Amino acid sequence: MTALNTATQAKRKLRTAVVGCGVIGRQHAQVITNNEDLELVALVDTIETAAISLADSVEKDLQKPRPAAYSSLADALKDTQIDLVAVCTPSGLHADLAVEALNAGKHVIIEKPIDVDLPSARRVADAAAAATGQVISVISQHRFDPASVAVARAVRSGRFGRITSGVASLAWWRGQNYYDSGQWRGTWELDGGGAVMNQGVHSVDLLLWFLGTPVQIQAHTALLAHERIEVEDTAVATVRFASGALAVIHCTTAAYPGLTARIQVHGEKGSAVVDNDRLQYFHAADNAPEGGSSYGMAGAGNQSELEVGAHDASANMDGADDLQTAHQKQYADVVESIRSGKAPRVGVEEATAALATVRALYVSATLGSAVYFEDVLAGKYDELVVHTGGA
Ligand SMILES: NC(=O)c1ccc[n+]([C@@H]2O[C@H](COP(=O)([O-])OP(=O)(O)OC[C@H]3O[C@@H](n4cnc5c(N)ncnc54)[C@H](O)[C@@H]3O)[C@@H](O)[C@H]2O)c1
Repeated sequence: MTALNTATQAKRKLRTAVVGCGVIGRQHAQVITNNEDLELVALVDTIETAAISLADSVEKDLQKPRPAAYSSLADALKDTQIDLVAVCTPSGLHADLAVEALNAGKHVIIEKPIDVDLPSARRVADAAAAATGQVISVISQHRFDPASVAVARAVRSGRFGRITSGVASLAWWRGQNYYDSGQWRGTWELDGGGAVMNQGVHSVDLLLWFLGTPVQIQAHTALLAHERIEVEDTAVATVRFASGALAVIHCTTAAYPGLTARIQVHGEKGSAVVDNDRLQYFHAADNAPEGGSSYGMAGAGNQSELEVGAHDASANMDGADDLQTAHQKQYADVVESIRSGKAPRVGVEEATAALATVRALYVSATLGSAVYFEDVLAGKYDELVVHTGGA
């Protein structure tokens, strides 16, 4: 394995490859070409026309140098000098490709989730541990939204006092055509789950960032408004955290016409609500003129504009404008890690904790009983075939 030399890399652009040129791969291509520290040199897709069509678009629409197109990562690694590989394929292929890139001495960005099961996440962790001087980060772009950064900071600095509870609710709608748009969608093998694993893993990750390590989880899942898929479109769970805090997870792609993704965090001295990536509500007793009160009124004393400014405190009904920006920020974090040697904000450990929480939810729904997060993380249920409950 060739460990990359960070000193040399400080002086030149990092040559980057995108593996998987579908919906999110196209977005990565844009983010990479917008980043002055990066150069998009290779596009890989098993459907070679997908890689070629994205290369055309990089050249014509984005007016950037044309990247080479390949039908396998192995060919790209053989032919082109690459520093950083971004894995944007169906989720159940993430670990194999990330390990291949790590073993070839490359830095790696993996789209969320890290993979669909814990043995795969452990393979990534093992390859990362054996890789010296290589950065590996898993996309969880909402950790870079000003709203979630403000909440994490308030929680960690103690401004909310003891954290008592949280709610992560994602009430989205995905039509049947979404699930029909790719054979891998809605399968246990490659999607790894439904509304929680695919759409809700972001909210789960933020909940863990704010509330810490889960202890126990109890869940129900169901498939209620879609057909021809194996996984859930609706899930609810309760979680008890090591701090004693309690939380509710609610994720669905069956909430027509599709509402927002919302996270609430509550403590004895403050509360916050992040709705579609913006800080809808924030109140810390230390900043209230009355110095806190013995009982509160709904929505009283909203300090969200004070915390993040008007833009990031305003309503965001479609969430679209922030998506690119958040990915850009996570890429900047990875570039900084490569240049400086500091750990990226979202590494294998954080991504594995989010995955283990989602898996714990599925294990609980399958068994019909509460399960311990540590047991799931340690592999107790690795062999369990999970399924979607319901009527
Ligand atoms: N961070 C986010 O907000 C976000 C948003 C959407 C998707 N995602 C994640 O991105 C991943 C891809 O999702 P998508 O919606 O872009 O899927 P997609 O089906 O649109 O694209 C996947 C592409 O990967 C290609 N592919 C499959 N196997 C390959 C292989 N072995 N090597 C190279 N290419 C291969 C497919 O041909 C396809 O073009 C998923 O893991 C998903 O969870 C993340």
